[in-house]
Formats: sequence, C-alpha cells, structure tokens
Amino acid sequence: MRGLILNGSARGQKGVTGKMLDALTRGLLKASAGLKTFELRRMSISPCTGCLSCMHKTPGICVLQDDMSPIYEALKASDLLVMATPLYVDTMSAQLKTAMDRCLACLQPFLVRDDTGRVRHPFNWRMPAKFLLLSTSAFPEPDVFAALIATFRAEAANFSSKPVGEICIPGSIALQMEPELLDRHLALLEEAGKVLAGTGSIPEVLLRELNTPPLDVERYLQVAAKYEDWCRAQLSKKG
Ligand SMILES: Cc1cc2nc3c(=O)[nH]c(=O)nc-3n(C[C@H](O)[C@H](O)[C@H](O)COP(=O)(O)O)c2cc1C
Repeated sequence: MRGLILNGSARGQKGVTGKMLDALTRGLLKASAGLKTFELRRMSISPCTGCLSCMHKTPGICVLQDDMSPIYEALKASDLLVMATPLYVDTMSAQLKTAMDRCLACLQPFLVRDDTGRVRHPFNWRMPAKFLLLSTSAFPEPDVFAALIATFRAEAANFSSKPVGEICIPGSIALQMEPELLDRHLALLEEAGKVLAGTGSIPEVLLRELNTPPLDVERYLQVAAKYEDWCRAQLSKKG
C-alpha cells in the first residue's frame, strides 16, 4: 500500500495531531510500499477560484500553479489518503479544506449515478481508494467530532473512495498538560498503522479502543485546572 498524509495542523510537530501522526507513520512504515507526508502549513496553496477550468478547459489540471502540484502527483500514485486535522470550529482546518477543495480537478463535468445510486461526477483521475481521518480536539466529549466526521465521509463519497476509519482523540488541553495520558493511544495508533498498511483495513475493535477518550470529563476538568493556572500565570506576566 502506498500512503499519502496531509497534515492540516497549524502547529505541525508541536501539536497533538503531529504526535498522533508520528505514531501512525511509524506503524504504516512497517508495511507500506511508500509514504509521503505534506505539512500543509509550510506550503503555499491558494483556495480554489471556482473557475472550473479543470473540468471544462484543461481536464484534470488546475490552472493555479502552486504547491498543490506535488500533492496531485502523490494523490494519483497513492492507495491511501490520511486526512489529519485538529478540530477547528467543529470541522477540519482551513489548511486541509483548501487542499481538499483543490482536488476538484480530478472530476469531469458530466453527471452519472455512482455505485450507491447518487448523482456524482465521473473522474479525470482517481483519488486514493481509501481515506482515513485523524483528529484531536480541545474539548473532551467524543461527539464534538460529529460535523467533522460527516464532512470526512462526504469527502470520501464524493471521490468514490472508501472511509477506512475515523480516529478522533478528544481532550487535547489535558493531553498537553499531562502528555503521558496519550501514550496508550499512541501505541494503538502505531498498531493501527501497521495493520492498515498490511491488510488495507483497521479492525473495528482497534478503532473502538482508539476512539475511547484517554480520560473522562471529570479527570479532564481536574487536569484542565492546571491549564487555567498556566493561563493566569501567562496573563500576569504581561500585566
Ligand atoms: C481556530 C481554532 C478553532 C478551534 N475550534 C475548536 C472546536 O471547535 N472544538 C474543540 O474542541 N477544539 C477547538 N480548537 C482546539 C484545537 O482542536 C486543539 O487545540 C488541538 O489540540 C489543536 O491541534 P494541534 O495540537 O495539532 O495543534 C480550536 C483551535 C483553533 C486554533
């Protein structure tokens, strides 16, 4: 399996998304035929202008010449796309959304029924056959990811790709105050990467464990109290 990771975190390796990706990558590399990671925050990618030249004038090719070019090449050569993003206002980061919108270039303008009977566009070129979502949030409740998961599944459906899992770990404020709380999930992520690269899927039981929050809301609030102390100390330094 050849994989492609789009890291939509604005904080890169410093963030919880970055740590989750490091663990997944270690696992994927044990059985992947190749893996490319793009740190979107370091790349210059313009928003889609909606000109639809990629559909009507230059099929499959976007008129904007920017850092999407290597991503297009990697998308065409990959079987797996990992969409990694922190939860920003209940959905994906602007960095990731901008890159995903530019993937419109893979679509033809014509209208056909897809495998599920819904009306969609056929393809100039195919996106990776499998999509995986990786995310984290500041708030501790797992349902904060509902809108993001719905958007991720819609992305996969629009590109006729299969969602192989959503791995969403809430409570990043506590996970940054006490990083060891994340250790078990990082080990599970490494395992998930290895199994996914080897078999093309992640067992339900492993996904369930990964999507069980590392700490409950009561414990989260206890740890978050340390965060409040830290915030107040920062504010008093400035005052
Ligand atoms: C612009 C912005 C919007 C955010 N919106 C949410 C949100 O809706 N829900 C939430 O739980 N966390 C929200 N957060 C918090 C981030 O999801 C959280 O800090 C996460 O750890 C950031 O990922 P990173 O550690 O990889 O940088 C937001 C953060 C930013 C910067």
